[in-house]
Amino acid sequence: MLAFSAEDALAIPQRALFIGAQPHPALRAWPEVVGWQPLRPLAAAWEKAGFARTEDLPEGKFPLVMVLPGKSKDEALAWFAQAKDRLEPGGRLLVAMPNTAGAGRFEKELSKAAGNIVSIQKHKCRAFHALLDEADEAVFSGWRALGELREISGFSVQAGIFSSDHIDPGSQLLADHLPAHLHGNVADLGAGWGFLSDAMLKRCPNIERLDLFEADARALCCARMNLACHEREITYHWHDVTTGLPEIYDAIVMNPPFHTGQATDVDLGRAFLKVAAGSLKRGGKLLLVANRQLPYEAALEASGLAWRKITEDKIYKLLAAEKR
Ligand SMILES: C[S@@+](CC[C@H](N)C(=O)[O-])C[C@H]1O[C@@H](n2cnc3c(N)ncnc32)[C@H](O)[C@@H]1O
Repeated sequence: MLAFSAEDALAIPQRALFIGAQPHPALRAWPEVVGWQPLRPLAAAWEKAGFARTEDLPEGKFPLVMVLPGKSKDEALAWFAQAKDRLEPGGRLLVAMPNTAGAGRFEKELSKAAGNIVSIQKHKCRAFHALLDEADEAVFSGWRALGELREISGFSVQAGIFSSDHIDPGSQLLADHLPAHLHGNVADLGAGWGFLSDAMLKRCPNIERLDLFEADARALCCARMNLACHEREITYHWHDVTTGLPEIYDAIVMNPPFHTGQATDVDLGRAFLKVAAGSLKRGGKLLLVANRQLPYEAALEASGLAWRKITEDKIYKLLAAEKR
């Protein structure tokens, strides 16, 4: 955690809101911090550390709002605006970001709207805070709009979620090769805003129930809107897939994640594969798309699945596997 020097130090207020909350022992000294975190694994870590969590951003006002943004520029700016809307008069916005996420650039952005920024740099990160009482409202209303729902190809999406400005070409490859015979109970792991689920519901009439599992609450919310047109049984789970699934399936379809925060995390993709393999009926089918260089074939074999490559292009490969 970054500490400001004595003259720049923030007095610890009685209450604070933490947008993008992640736990840290130093926060235990704080009287009342409530955290909002849309990503399930991070929300679980926050709660496990004993902190209070709010499902939605609260309507109330706070003397301090802390923001720990993710990697999307629009999301970060929208979070600045959402933080401002929850500040009491005289309240402060405090932002922390790694330099690799463009901390300097975001500090500059904030200085366009608020003149009194105090900033420190340490551990390849930057923390900066400002009073927003006299901030430029026109800049903030532009940032607020960045957080609103937007549309791509007729689907609702939101800044910060996966593929919020284009349909992922890997997912498109999978959708183009979806076999129409998928049937029974089917799961979409890391379902995002529902692109693959929508493709399955359109192409596979014998799917009896489709279960979406997704870690990002905002993406899942978009998926609900995007799939509302289908008169089929669909369930939505705000869920960390790496913790396992509650039941077993006739088929599982996925474009597994391989990033945690900013960093590549192939183990996350492998964990998805392992959970999928353990959650298929005997003879159950797994269909997945991945970047060609990702070493998933060995993970499929290690999990007892027979696999074959359906197709590939310059970037992606589409693998089908079956539980023996
Ligand atoms: C490559 S994207 C695919 C999204 C969507 N299926 C599509 O094709 O557009 C992977 C998705 O997995 C989600 N995700 C990442 N980690 C997860 C986890 N531990 N549990 C569940 N979902 C996760 C991400 O939020 C993201 O939406």
